[in-house]
Amino acid sequence: MTDQENSRVEEAPNDVSRRNFIKGEIAAGAAVSSAAYVFRGSPLLGQQTSAPGAVERLITLNVNGQERRVDVMKQETLAMTLRYKLGLTGTKLGCDRAECGACTVLIDDIPRYSCSTLTHSVRGKRVVSIEGLAAADGTLHPVQQGVVAEQGFQCAFCMPGFVMATVGFLKVNPNPTRPQLAHGISGNLCRCQDYDKILTAMMHGAELMRRA
Ligand code: FES
Ligand code: FES
Repeated sequence: MTDQENSRVEEAPNDVSRRNFIKGEIAAGAAVSSAAYVFRGSPLLGQQTSAPGAVERLITLNVNGQERRVDVMKQETLAMTLRYKLGLTGTKLGCDRAECGACTVLIDDIPRYSCSTLTHSVRGKRVVSIEGLAAADGTLHPVQQGVVAEQGFQCAFCMPGFVMATVGFLKVNPNPTRPQLAHGISGNLCRCQDYDKILTAMMHGAELMRRA
């Protein structure tokens, strides 16, 4: 046998083997993808299409009177959904751990820290953020008018939270004394520490609300 023939014999099994291997890989890949396609389209009897405990991510939320479809992760907070999924950046994130109240929104008329509320837990409830307070014609809510009239804030980062907390408190006590309102919104902090002027603005808002 010549050297050339020898080398052909030695290469032949490897060559065939490599070709068969590649063919096998392609066939396996096609089988896997077609199996995935079949499973996605029609689950087998008794077989779950998602892991146990998984939650549906595409949900409908009632925000500021509108039904909003939104893709929400299982561990996502309402503040994140409002700000980064729905573009409602009036809700502020200060501490992000239930200490400052900057993220306060109304859930079924009750003030809540949205940084510490899972979005999935508000399905079927009414969420109102600062953007939802004004009337359809743009007329500001009386509490917002009180803020404008009294100029009660310095940087105003905390302002949406204070307004939402006050609106919620006035729903259960529309005619509070100054100490009562101060206690009612004491879950909100102001880094500029302008509390006296803030309270004056909120009391003015309460008065405007009673007149409305
Ligand atoms: S950001 Fe929610 S309480 Fe501070
Ligand atoms: S006015 Fe600046 S944080 Fe309250």
